[in-house]
Amino acid sequence: MRLDKFLADMGAGSRSDLKSAIRKKRVTVNGEVVRDSSMAVTENDTVTLDGITIEYETMQYFLMNKPAGVITATEDKKQETVLDLLPLPHRTDLFPVGRLDRDTEGLLLITNDGDLNHRLLSPKHHVDKVYYARIDGEVTNDDVQKFAEGIMIDDDEGPAFKALPAVLRILSAENGSSEIEVTLQEGKYHEVKRLFRAVGKRVTYLRRIAMGSLTLDPALAPGESRKLTAEEIETLQSFK
Ligand code: URA
Repeated sequence: MRLDKFLADMGAGSRSDLKSAIRKKRVTVNGEVVRDSSMAVTENDTVTLDGITIEYETMQYFLMNKPAGVITATEDKKQETVLDLLPLPHRTDLFPVGRLDRDTEGLLLITNDGDLNHRLLSPKHHVDKVYYARIDGEVTNDDVQKFAEGIMIDDDEGPAFKALPAVLRILSAENGSSEIEVTLQEGKYHEVKRLFRAVGKRVTYLRRIAMGSLTLDPALAPGESRKLTAEEIETLQSFK
């Protein structure tokens, strides 16, 4: 591919900015300064911009600890998105896998792998998603039983549906509030909040801590992200 496309695909700048950077001798290929934007390069070449090596990756996978107050979208005119938080350079065709509400924190996978996105989100696959939540109200064993049986959701947030059985674990329940972990097999719109509303309680804080084989990395502060390891990618890919 052309040198300017190589750099633009990896989010190093716009094609015109990169052409100008190349003219100004800011780009090297395999240690040599290059002045021709149309030079043919491959992912095996070592390309630097301002001394920083830009690796070409066809697929990228990032694990983000999404902070509250940011929307799960690729771009938005008014509000900050999870893609705005991802440090550059990164591919320009990345998107978040599934959606967390603006006020929800936690594990979010960001990739350009459309096949993986489809398999993780397809209702056929029932990929487990685990959430930690704080609840206004004391969660009871009766609630645990109802979640296990599958709760009928019939509210004003969308069409009525019967939720798939969910595993609800009470971490604490006292003085009118609770901490819980819940494992869902699906990802319907606002599902955790709607399940608790259906049993007369309210979610006051929500964080996703796992999705399939991926778990939230405790080293990541809200807003931080890192690339998945080769092993994490392989385990995710091997899931059918
Ligand atoms: N369920 C919710 O209610 N909100 C989320 O962000 C994720 C799951």
